[in-house]
Amino acid sequence: MSLKRLGLYTHRCSLALVMILVLVTATTDVSGPPVNITAVLGHTATFKCPWDSSFSATRLYIQRVVNGGSSEIFINGFDSNKKSEMQLYSSPKYLNRTKVNRTDLSMEMTDVSVSDEGLYKCYIFYGKVENPTVSKPIPEIYLKVTAKYSVPTIEKECTERKSGDAGKSCQLSCSSTGGYPQSAVKWAELNLSLISVIHNESSEDLSSKTWTVNQTITYNCDHPTNVSCAVDDAVSPTITICETESFSVKVIAAIVFVLVFVPLLLLVLLVMKHCYQRCRTEDQGDPENADVALADCHSQLKSV
Ligand SMILES: *[C@@H]1O[C@H](CO)[C@@H](O)[C@H](O)[C@H]1NC(C)=O
Ligand SMILES: *[C@@H]1O[C@H](CO)[C@@H](O)[C@H](O)[C@H]1NC(C)=O
Ligand SMILES: *[C@@H]1O[C@H](CO)[C@@H](O)[C@H](O)[C@H]1NC(C)=O
Ligand SMILES: *[C@@H]1O[C@H](CO)[C@@H](O)[C@H](O)[C@H]1NC(C)=O
Ligand SMILES: *[C@@H]1O[C@H](CO)[C@@H](O)[C@H](O)[C@H]1NC(C)=O
Ligand SMILES: *[C@@H]1O[C@H](CO)[C@@H](O)[C@H](O)[C@H]1NC(C)=O
Ligand SMILES: *[C@@H]1O[C@H](CO)[C@@H](O)[C@H](O)[C@H]1NC(C)=O
Repeated sequence: MSLKRLGLYTHRCSLALVMILVLVTATTDVSGPPVNITAVLGHTATFKCPWDSSFSATRLYIQRVVNGGSSEIFINGFDSNKKSEMQLYSSPKYLNRTKVNRTDLSMEMTDVSVSDEGLYKCYIFYGKVENPTVSKPIPEIYLKVTAKYSVPTIEKECTERKSGDAGKSCQLSCSSTGGYPQSAVKWAELNLSLISVIHNESSEDLSSKTWTVNQTITYNCDHPTNVSCAVDDAVSPTITICETESFSVKVIAAIVFVLVFVPLLLLVLLVMKHCYQRCRTEDQGDPENADVALADCHSQLKSV
């Protein structure tokens, strides 16, 4: 082992020892509830360790609580007694995504993912540079990650209800994707007690840990109802179900039929009758020309 690596190794050990000591002393200390911060998936989170800036901090370790609280890993920090080798202790997962500001004891974390969600602690040291004291209670910061759900798609499929009942029976589907945390589909403007859920599905994307939710319901109604669905704060376009339009369309269709097709049909019949009579009289009058007249008559029929 080279001298340099040995030095690094002992350095690692001493730092680990410091951290263990910190942990032991910290457990005797009751800190308040964690400060909650929120970051949008893929964006930047800023962890601000609370500190009275009139005292200068000589060290800062920002650590993450892992394994259900049984251990901690070092994320980033500084030690004014050493130059920049603190980053050697950072988990590779965080190394190039985090940056500490020594002036206001804050840390920026870029490209936040769902797996960054969790509890973080600020070990702030003050006093002698060689032998500083950790400030207590240890501030805790809880990072929550959110991701926006896509605008839900809404689909309807309505059929007449079974014999006897007025109105329609509609199957409505709503689907949205890419959100976090998990959420559920909500239906606006529908009477909740009349909804029956026939399909309800949530699936997690294994790499991004975001959710896709999908719900299908049936709903019976006998008057026009505007409906939209929502997942978290994403709202679908509004669609109308159970329109009375089916009645008026039938009436208009009947009127159009009577006004246009019936006179046309009568006209066709009249022309056919007239032609038939002409054919017959020509047949009787001039037997030699009968074929020609008949052909003529056929072409007349065709032109009608
Ligand atoms: C942080 O959020 C949790 C719920 O996730 C809540 O119980 C707690 O009160 C919040 N803390 C603060 C300081 O708002
Ligand atoms: C951090 O490093 C990883 C590879 O080690 C790379 O994929 C990623 O883009 C880097 N992120 C930033 C913010 O530089
Ligand atoms: C550190 O924080 C201070 C106070 O918020 C700010 O003025 C300064 O620009 C920051 N430094 C860097 C390198 O971002
Ligand atoms: C919802 O439907 C139930 C059952 O038909 C009815 O008793 C109730 O009044 C309806 N509620 C609303 C808000 O329309
Ligand atoms: C649908 O599934 C989600 C997630 O599993 C659940 O939170 C919600 O309560 C379910 N809704 C219904 C109506 O069953
Ligand atoms: C939602 O579920 C329905 C019923 O299983 C299915 O037909 C539809 O394709 C699903 N939509 C999406 C976006 O997964
Ligand atoms: C539904 O929406 C349409 C268009 O926005 C509107 O003209 C109609 O009055 C609404 N109907 C009901 C029952 O709210």
